[in-house]
Amino acid sequence: MEEKTLKREFSENKVKDSYAKVAWFYDFWALLTESKAARKVIELASIKDGESILEVAVGTGQLLKELLKRNPNGTNTGTELSPGMLSRAKKRVSKLGLDNYTLETGNAYRLPFEDNSFDLLVNNFMLDLLPEEDFEKVLSEFYRVLKPSGRLVTSTMAFGQRWYNKFWHWVAKRFPGLLTGCRPVSIVSYLEKVGFSVEEVQQLSQNTFPAEVIRAMKPDEKYSFVVRH
Ligand SMILES: C[S@@+](CC[C@H](N)C(=O)[O-])C[C@H]1O[C@@H](n2cnc3c(N)ncnc32)[C@H](O)[C@@H]1O
Repeated sequence: MEEKTLKREFSENKVKDSYAKVAWFYDFWALLTESKAARKVIELASIKDGESILEVAVGTGQLLKELLKRNPNGTNTGTELSPGMLSRAKKRVSKLGLDNYTLETGNAYRLPFEDNSFDLLVNNFMLDLLPEEDFEKVLSEFYRVLKPSGRLVTSTMAFGQRWYNKFWHWVAKRFPGLLTGCRPVSIVSYLEKVGFSVEEVQQLSQNTFPAEVIRAMKPDEKYSFVVRH
C-alpha cells in the first residue's frame, strides 16, 4: 500500500525558530537516530581529495567535519538556514585548523552559486522538513549547481520496512513539533523527474528510526540521450 506523505508548510522563520530551540541537544538526537545514515552518506559519497563539495543544510557541522577531513586539498562550501545551528557548525570545524572552506547562511530554495559548480552535493535530513510540493524546486536547484557527472548524496527520514518504524510516522503525525516537522518521505521519483539518475538507494534503521540514503548522478550531457515514444 502506498503511504501518504504528511503535509508540511515551509516558513523560513519557523525553521529558524525551531532549530534555535533544538540546537543545544541536536547532536545527541543525531547520535541516537541519524548517525548511521550520516556514515552511509560519507561511504556513498566516495570523496576523492581535491573535489569541489557543497553541503546544503550543514546543521551543527557533524557531517561537514567529516567532509573536510576527506577533502583537505579541495574546496568545501556549506550553507545553513538557521543561524543557531550554523554558529555551532562554525565552532566545530574551526577546530580542524583548515582554511579551505566557506560556511554561510543560505536557503536551499535559492542557492547562491553558478550553474555546474560542484562535483558533489551532500544534503542530510533536510528534504523531509519541506512541503512535498517543493521537492522538485529544491532538487532542481541541487541539479543546477552540480557539474555534469556530479553526484548528489542525500538522506531523509523514511517510511521504513519494519513494523516498529511505523512508530515514528505516528510521532510525526501526532506531534510534528517534536521532530521539528520532519516526517517520512520518498524522494526517488522527484529525483528522476528533475533529471537525476538514481544509482543507489539504501534503507536503514537506527534505534527504530527509519532513514533512506540515496546516491544520484547528474548525467553528463555528452553521453545522455532521450528515448522518445
Ligand atoms: C534535521 S537538521 C539536519 C542537519 C544536518 N544536515 C545533519 O544531518 O546533522 C535539518 C537542517 O536543515 C536546515 N534547513 C531547513 N530548511 C532549510 C533550507 N530551506 N535551506 C537550508 N537549510 C535548511 C535546518 O535549519 C536544520 O539545520
